Amino acid sequence: MKDIRGIVFDLYGTLYDVHTVATLCEKYYPQRGREVSVVWRQKQLEYTWLRSLMNQYVNFERATEDALVFTCRYLGLEISTARKEALCEAYLRLSPFPEVPDALRELRARGLPLAILSNGSINSIDSVVRNSGLTESFAHLISVDDVQIFKPSRLVYELAERKLGLHRSEILFVSSNAWDVTGAAYYGYPTCWVNRGAGTFEEMDQRPAHEVTGVNMIAAQVLSA
Ligand code: LAC
Repeated sequence: MKDIRGIVFDLYGTLYDVHTVATLCEKYYPQRGREVSVVWRQKQLEYTWLRSLMNQYVNFERATEDALVFTCRYLGLEISTARKEALCEAYLRLSPFPEVPDALRELRARGLPLAILSNGSINSIDSVVRNSGLTESFAHLISVDDVQIFKPSRLVYELAERKLGLHRSEILFVSSNAWDVTGAAYYGYPTCWVNRGAGTFEEMDQRPAHEVTGVNMIAAQVLSA
């Protein structure tokens, strides 16, 4: 992939581990932390997709909070205002996956501009990146706030092309979310699926151009290919 001139990453689940919040969930709901975190994330995604279809945009923080309230009701767990605030705050302090900081450094050393394109609000993206000390890694932090609709809308994928000033064929789009890779592939990006576990790719008439087990494999496996 010698013609790649920029890399765009998804944030949640790709660079940062959304299940970082499971620790606080576990503290509040002993033995149920992981379950809360998993249902919460799934519901958060569903709300972004549903709101996009209904043309009822709210920002990512609001969708995240609504999903948390649903999750607790669904699982029969109490949620006070203080807990809700603390859990939502934890979403702004996610840990990057262990290989990510070094991998970003290596990719930057190749002179490639790196960007994040996320369903997060600009405040969410900025907080997560700043709290992890990785601000310097990115040339652009791109939020769906600008188009008021969530991925996988084409309007969102289009944003990255515009902000980077590159044609889609020159941008490698990297995500661990198979549905996101599918949306990006439909838009026309060369894609890279980060499959850290033994994930199952979507059945929606697209396949990733590349598949890696971690962001640290991109330089050797994708760019040098
Ligand atoms: C994001 C979510 C969808 O960062 O992972 O856009």
